[in-house]
Parts: sequence; structure tokens; C-alpha cells
Amino acid sequence: MTNHYDQFVKTLHKLEYKHDLSKAFNDLLTVGICSFHRTNIQTQLQEQDEANETLYMNTIKSYKRDDLNILAEALGVLQLNVLDNPYSDILGEFFMQHITKGQNGQYFTPEHVCDMMALIQCGNDQSERNRIFDPACGSGRMLLSAAKQNHKNYFFGADNSETCAKMATLNFFLNGLSGEVAWMNSLSMEWYGGWHINTKGIGIIPINKEQSQIWGEAPKMPKPRPIDKVKSHNEQPSHQLSLF
Ligand SMILES: C[S@@+](CC[C@H](N)C(=O)[O-])C[C@H]1O[C@@H](n2cnc3c(N)ncnc32)[C@H](O)[C@@H]1O
Repeated sequence: MTNHYDQFVKTLHKLEYKHDLSKAFNDLLTVGICSFHRTNIQTQLQEQDEANETLYMNTIKSYKRDDLNILAEALGVLQLNVLDNPYSDILGEFFMQHITKGQNGQYFTPEHVCDMMALIQCGNDQSERNRIFDPACGSGRMLLSAAKQNHKNYFFGADNSETCAKMATLNFFLNGLSGEVAWMNSLSMEWYGGWHINTKGIGIIPINKEQSQIWGEAPKMPKPRPIDKVKSHNEQPSHQLSLF
């Protein structure tokens, strides 16, 4: 992993003299997702989509040609890394070390711990099409480790950080995981966006919440009952003595 990671760091830092690194990293994720939008995995052909084109053009408009080449180079490094080190998480590593630097509690689980957890959870299970879900997936590295055990499952990740949801989406796509990533709050169920990835032979497809299995199949919580009457310490059974 080290060589490609170092190369990725070096490449993105070339943008730093003109662009905010955090924004450039986010733009790289958006450009990557747009580039693989509705791409037929067999033919590599992409369905045209006006909303996707607009998002792509708006994202790249603050970059000059040389800088765009740097973004393309960084995407290339990610792809090479998948060939040499499948299921490793360069994006999450860069995010931790160069973007959040620990802010907002953004530390992800070390890869070997993810691997151990995946081994314990799914090591002996070679059945296919199980659904594996991380409701606070970060860059999706726990799911990458689960895919190391058995990539024929379906993988689901949710995160309330847009950057994390995009990292997981790109990680899923590049490593050939099939499933869904939701950018949502897994506790309050607020929905912000999401993607189906590598399903039905198509790369990355943006979805709305009605199309989301994560959102649609979440256990329905019973409606909170109105509190009939709040008991106070004065309302003690009549047989008890009250002190005051
Ligand atoms: C410590 S990281 C763990 C990421 C990943 N599961 C791992 O083990 O590497 C916690 C993640 O939870 C996300 N998160 C926190 N509150 C959340 C919520 N209410 N809904 C969804 N994601 C949340 C954060 O954005 C962060 O990416």
C-alpha cells in the first residue's frame, strides 16, 4: 500500500498551493463518482445524464487544465492501488492524516482490526448474497475487510458525513463491491443522498430515499406514546407516609 499511498499524497499536495486541500479532496471524490456514473461495467460505456454532467462541470470549473490533470492522476493512482492492494483504503488514510487530523472524532478502525472483526464475523460463511451493513461506515473500510472474506455478499454503508459517504462509494466501486451507500443520519433517519454501486452491472447510480434499502428497510420505531401523566413524588400510594 505504501508506494501508492505516498504517490497519492504527493499528487494531491501539488494542488495545495492554489486550492484548499480539503475542498480539492472533496472535489476529487465528486469527480470520481461523476466519472463512473452509470458506467456499464462490461462495455465501459456511460449513459449520458444531464444532472451528472452539470455536477461534474460545476465541480471542475475552479481548476485550470494542469490542476485537472492532477485530479485525473490522483484517480489513476487509486485505480492502480486497487490492482496491487485490493480492498485497502488509501482514501480513508489520506482523510485521517491530511484532512481531519482527528477533528470531529474522525479516526477510522485500523485495517488489521477491521480484518480481524471481519474474520470473526464472516470468516466461515461462504454463502452468497448476505447483506452486511455498517451504519457509521466512514470510508467503508470495515466493509472492504468483509469483502476480503467473501466479496459475493451485498455491502451497505451509511454515514452522516458527505465526505465519508463519497469515500465509501468510490471505495466500493473501485474494489467491485455491490451494494449501497447512504449519506444519512442513521439515528434520526434524515436522508441527504445515496448511491447504488455495481448493481445490475452498472457503476454508480445516485438514488433517492425511496430507492434505498437502508432507508426503506430500517426497522420502524413505534411512535412515542404521549405521556399520560408525569408522576411526581407527591403521587405516592396512599398507604405510604409522606415526610413533607
Ligand atoms: C469512528 S468512525 C468509524 C468508521 C468506520 N466504521 C470504521 O470502523 O473505520 C465513526 C463514523 O460515524 C459517523 N457518524 C457519526 N454519527 C453518525 C450518525 N448519526 N449517522 C451516521 N453516521 C454517523 C462519522 O461521520 C464517522 O465517519
